Amino acid sequence: MSTGPDPARPDAARPDAARPDAASPGLRVAVIGAGLMGAGIAQVFVTAGLPVAIYDSAPAALESVRSRVAEGLEILQILNENPLRLLTTAGVLADAVLGADMVIEAAPERLAVKQAIFAELDRLAPPGAVLASNTSAIPIRDITAGLRRRQRVIGTHFWNPPYLVPLVEVVQAAASDLAAVDWAMALLDRIGMKPVHVAADVPGFVGNRLQHALKREAIALVANGVCTAETVDTVTRFGFGRRLGIVGPLEQSDLTGLELTLAIHETIMPVLDRTPEPHPLLVEKVRRGETGAAAGRGFRDWTPGQAEARRAEVTRELAGQARRAAAQPPQGQPPQSQPPPGPRACG
Ligand SMILES: NC(=O)c1ccc[n+]([C@@H]2O[C@H](COP(=O)([O-])OP(=O)(O)OC[C@H]3O[C@@H](n4cnc5c(N)ncnc54)[C@H](O)[C@@H]3O)[C@@H](O)[C@H]2O)c1
Repeated sequence: MSTGPDPARPDAARPDAARPDAASPGLRVAVIGAGLMGAGIAQVFVTAGLPVAIYDSAPAALESVRSRVAEGLEILQILNENPLRLLTTAGVLADAVLGADMVIEAAPERLAVKQAIFAELDRLAPPGAVLASNTSAIPIRDITAGLRRRQRVIGTHFWNPPYLVPLVEVVQAAASDLAAVDWAMALLDRIGMKPVHVAADVPGFVGNRLQHALKREAIALVANGVCTAETVDTVTRFGFGRRLGIVGPLEQSDLTGLELTLAIHETIMPVLDRTPEPHPLLVEKVRRGETGAAAGRGFRDWTPGQAEARRAEVTRELAGQARRAAAQPPQGQPPQSQPPPGPRACG
């Protein structure tokens, strides 16, 4: 978390216009882009009781957004309240951002589209509003190049679907005002998300770098004939993946003892895949039209209906996890009883 202005970066030190406390009850949110992510992001804010105005340049997306948010609420079994009353649609960008304290852009992953939206937001959003992009990988500095008030622009990388996956990477670009980062972190924490501060505007931030480092090795193992795609998925799900949601890789290394991690790295680091571009097997599959479940073949073969059933299963599992997490006592409260001491986690 930030501690104040960075003397090495005077651009980042300039405080922006005053904004209300992140805990104040009357905050208003605007979401730009009512697609998959925009709808999910709107859902988490209205569920937490904050009014959201959502804008999309495609009227069809705006027409369907309320029913898509309703489906998300049903998955979480939020049936007896009506957070939808807090969601309004706006056919004009200026109307959506009127009075907004936070604006989150979730338009397509194309630099020119995002640049055009932020040029408008720079002009139309209230001066104190924090502006955030949900980009998956585009550096925030590229999106905000040439803007008048870049200091209030940050990244907020939500994961899909935001109402089931709590992480938000809050990305601080070189020009970002540290107060805007802290403010967004506090707001996201307040609505029940799990914000983390990413202190540099690096492509892929933290989560996608980790995820795609794993995918690079997974693809190489298949390409080199070491195992099948099914085996990669089985090893991940039934092996180390079982504990990844409980203990992260570095905490797990500490629990095991770093000597073991070092010994393993001495053996395998020289032989892990280091292809510096997309792996040739991935490129070739896409070229052949083997683009995944929708095409009937990707790394694995898919029969009609199989992908839909699998997606439903994943959603059900994630919803179960989200409900169990919601039923946990707030952080800082001791559990009812101490769990028994477990074996040392290693491997
Ligand atoms: N899909 C994911 O799993 C995922 C996860 C994390 C982050 N993201 C990122 O979130 C962003 C949105 O992704 P998505 O999957 O929701 O895309 P999407 O295609 O489902 O939705 C994008 C929406 O933006 C609208 N749009 C296009 N131009 C616009 C404009 N000028 N102004 C306003 N709205 C406009 C489209 O009509 C569409 O409804 C992208 O940057 C993506 O990389 C996606």
